[in-house]
Amino acid sequence: MKDKSINLLLLEDNPGDARLIRELLADTGDRFNLQCVDLLSKGLKCLVSQNIDAVLLDLGLPDSQGLNTIESVRATKASIPIIVLTGLDDESVAIEAVRRGAQDYLIKGSITGSMLSRVIRYAIERKNYEEELKRSLEKFTRALNGTVKAMAMAVEIRDPYTAGHQKRTADLARAIAQEMNLAPERVEGIQLACMIHDIGKISIPAEILSKPSLLSNLELSLIKIHPQVGYDILKEIDFPWPIAKTVLQHHERIDGSGYPAGLKNDAILLEAKVLAVADVVEAIASHRPYRPAFGTKEAIDEITRKQGVLYDPTVVKSCLKLFQDKEYSFG
Ligand SMILES: [Fe+2]
Repeated sequence: MKDKSINLLLLEDNPGDARLIRELLADTGDRFNLQCVDLLSKGLKCLVSQNIDAVLLDLGLPDSQGLNTIESVRATKASIPIIVLTGLDDESVAIEAVRRGAQDYLIKGSITGSMLSRVIRYAIERKNYEEELKRSLEKFTRALNGTVKAMAMAVEIRDPYTAGHQKRTADLARAIAQEMNLAPERVEGIQLACMIHDIGKISIPAEILSKPSLLSNLELSLIKIHPQVGYDILKEIDFPWPIAKTVLQHHERIDGSGYPAGLKNDAILLEAKVLAVADVVEAIASHRPYRPAFGTKEAIDEITRKQGVLYDPTVVKSCLKLFQDKEYSFG
């Protein structure tokens, strides 16, 4: 980077300070193109219209005071490295500035040209790494979503009667989780777990899955192994969410009457409790090989009757709110 010239934008309203910074940078012999503006509004326009590599920011401008100035710059261009150059020697302000996205915090009058040059180059490099990491993470998440979708399709191709069941369950579970105000990352994990919650059915003979009459006890006990099989398939994948465990526990019920482990209350993951409600509502509302659809009303009645017994009452409350107050439908 040493050979490449760097385009700097200095937001500074004091002409003396601006001149000093220009001189400091000129003395380094490095190739900096410094442009100085005295208002935040002018600086933001430059950021949009020009190719700027880094911003040197005074926190006291005529049209913007304090740490909000950092946020205004980031709101205009999130990927730009920001170095605060201020007269305020205050450690807590410095920490807060970095927390809000500044790469560094320098005190005017106590910097040398070589120090400033080093800080600028380091800030640009670090910001580049951060952006690269962000892009890799986004790519990874997209790949993960694609993999989960492919897995969901593999189950549904084999078992056309539940085609769409996982997808509709995932959509409802997502809506419930959002209604419960869970963190967005957790909502995402719940949705992904739901999209593949019946993956263990891959081990069950297709004739059982699509049998147009009620199942025998033996066939039922075969079906009941699907959460464990799903867990075994998924447990080695290092998801950032408890996907395998959610799948394992999706037929557990809070009174301990579920399977495979008969877990109760807090021993069951919240993710699995959300999935359990979404799964049962979707299953009752839709048609099955051995019966027609019962409809949404029947599904709502079931979770209302069994809340606090089989199903987590907080989850049920959010689900009921969706259907009764927000006109949720499976589309
Ligand atoms: Fe299931």
